[in-house]
Amino acid sequence: MKPNWTPDSWRTRPIQQQPEYPDTTHLAQVEATLAGYPPLVFAGETCELRRLFAEVSQGRAFLLQGGDCAESFAEFSSSKIGDTVKVLLQMAVIMTFAAGCPVVKVGRMAGQFAKPRSAGSETVDGVTLPAYRGDIVNGIDFDERSRTPDPQRLLQAYHQSTATLNLLRAFAQGGFADLHQLHQWNLDFISDEALSEKYSQLAGRIDESLAFIRACGLKSTPQLHKTSFFTAHEALLLNYEQALTRQDSLTGEWYDCSAH
Ligand code: TRP
Repeated sequence: MKPNWTPDSWRTRPIQQQPEYPDTTHLAQVEATLAGYPPLVFAGETCELRRLFAEVSQGRAFLLQGGDCAESFAEFSSSKIGDTVKVLLQMAVIMTFAAGCPVVKVGRMAGQFAKPRSAGSETVDGVTLPAYRGDIVNGIDFDERSRTPDPQRLLQAYHQSTATLNLLRAFAQGGFADLHQLHQWNLDFISDEALSEKYSQLAGRIDESLAFIRACGLKSTPQLHKTSFFTAHEALLLNYEQALTRQDSLTGEWYDCSAH
């Protein structure tokens, strides 16, 4: 960290992807509200991910990161989140089994709302409006009301992220990611039967391995029943990131607690 860094020092620097909020008073209120809300992730979790990245960089683990280009307020449901998690768990288990090495799982979700744009505005039929920068900033519909950056959207993004993260934690720790469940992660909408069949076969081999170690008398351990699932996003809207940047009470270090 630079010696003169503070959570708000970005405000004095040139910045490319910053929306222009007409109502700066409202924006400041929302930022203050967010700054008082609980962090979404904890410093200790981020430290753990950093340790895992070190393993990846040494070639002792793989990193799997996946998710959508952007999350939206309209497409927010447990089935959507569940399907993304299923795909990532499937990929992770295949990689773990085939490569015989751990996979660090990172979902690009629970905060992936802001999008970078090549231009700040867009012109259609002679009408120029601000570019759509993602649901945390403005709406996609091409009319003035929807395209005007609205600070209230930061709060909606925060709340959607908390609910998403809550579900992700439940999926990872609450039994769904149990290696004895891996047949459940096969998505019914995968139209490619051959692929689906291939996955089922691999799942069958893992079942056999689990049955074998059980038969050998090895006791079940939490490692077989749970996994760790981390979150990440583009962190483009610095008003939001700053409000969630907190000082760790144990170390005094600053962490952006909007994602791992
Ligand atoms: N705990 C191990 C891990 O996270 C094994 C594991 C449990 C696992 N559930 C999983 C691996 C789901 C991949 C997918 O790697």
